[in-house]
Amino acid sequence: MAKNKEIIFVCNNCGNEFGKWTGQCSGCGEWNSLREIKNNKKPGQSRRREIGQKVEVKNLSKIEIKSVNLVNVFSSNIGEFDRVLGKGIVRGSVTLFAGEPGIGKSTLLTQLIGKIGGLYIAGEESAEQIGLRVKRLGLNAERFDVFESNSIEEIEDYLNRVNNLYKIVVVDSIQVVGCESTTGGMGSVGQIKESAFRLIQLAKKIGVAMFIVGHVTKEGDIAGPKLLEHMVDTVLYFEGEKNGDLRILRTTKNRFGPTDEVGVFKMEENGLREIKSDEINMLGSHKERIGSAVTVVIEGTRPMMLEIQALVVESFAPMPKRIFAGIDYNRGQLLVAIAQKNLSMPLYKYDVFVSVTGGIKIEDTGVDLAVLMAMWSSYKEKALEKNSVWVGEVSLLGEVKRVKFWDKRKKEAESMGRKMIEMENVRELKK
Ligand code: TYD
Ligand code: MG
Repeated sequence: MAKNKEIIFVCNNCGNEFGKWTGQCSGCGEWNSLREIKNNKKPGQSRRREIGQKVEVKNLSKIEIKSVNLVNVFSSNIGEFDRVLGKGIVRGSVTLFAGEPGIGKSTLLTQLIGKIGGLYIAGEESAEQIGLRVKRLGLNAERFDVFESNSIEEIEDYLNRVNNLYKIVVVDSIQVVGCESTTGGMGSVGQIKESAFRLIQLAKKIGVAMFIVGHVTKEGDIAGPKLLEHMVDTVLYFEGEKNGDLRILRTTKNRFGPTDEVGVFKMEENGLREIKSDEINMLGSHKERIGSAVTVVIEGTRPMMLEIQALVVESFAPMPKRIFAGIDYNRGQLLVAIAQKNLSMPLYKYDVFVSVTGGIKIEDTGVDLAVLMAMWSSYKEKALEKNSVWVGEVSLLGEVKRVKFWDKRKKEAESMGRKMIEMENVRELKK
């Protein structure tokens, strides 16, 4: 850490500080991410106590531990939101609400305040704009306060004065909240870190549940959310394809509950609507088509039927293209290799494109078989069996393994009038 220098270099990606410029950040490995900023830390200005001063070490049996009991938790009045958080919103907790611009972060948080009342700190929009949205969403404006501010000092001053007037406070967004004591432009690493730190302290002090909005880009190259994850109690990601209308709310960190639940919403004319289990089947079409395979994935604890599409075409490039939307790139590469070896598909001279309908990202390995089947169907120019459903993790040897929640998936497929096809090894297809 460069303490005494006037100029320091800060990595845009991870926030590490250096005294000298280098091409690659040694903290996170990112290239060309160091930015020069003025160092405002005075030497000796650290949080540690004076040496020689008496310090107090606490014995854990003597301090009162306030557990997350139901008294500290209240419902958001949005079922899918509560489900993702575990029990509901915890008083005094700080949640980072991250997502790409335009995905619906402001909409969902507006709905949240509209349902239970609270304060919306607007750094990006005017009160009129938010008022318009509240009207469009048909929400109650009675208990909806808006504070237009970009200044952490102003926010601290106001919230300290009203103390516990609000149950929830939304800050939209952290990228446009700055503080006077830190140099660097709005949205710079230093500003974001300091503002977030002070907001978190404030939330804990007055016991308000705070939601801090953070924009991320597809490349994730904007300083912000990644930097803040370790500071907050809960991290929520709101994702989906902007052109599609399905949105998934997931938690990647939760100090008070599980991290494996997801909430599903649909963006409609008047806001985000919660989607019940039996509505989340996203089949593009019910007809069997070339290059299409239907699967059942488990999101959180709920089964969701969806379609995998693949296009396998002869390549004219020196390096054939591999594009995977909605599945992990390396997993996709692996499945291409498995197909080449076990199904004798000469994919080294074919471009392969795979996409998941609905624009959602799947981490469930149970989708492997459907990806392979979609590629096989495209390559063979032959549609798969009518009403078939393909679930299973595929090993390097082509073996198809059962994945968790097997019966649940099977039942889901059957309830939709479809049949789960079982096989032991994908090599059986060649017969
Ligand atoms: P917004 O919440 O402003 O996104 P973010 O805060 O994540 O940047 O949502 C923007 C999009 O949502 C915008 O393209 C319009 C659309 N939208 C609807 O379709 N229905 C609605 O009721 C609202 C309020 C927005
Ligand atoms: Mg917004």
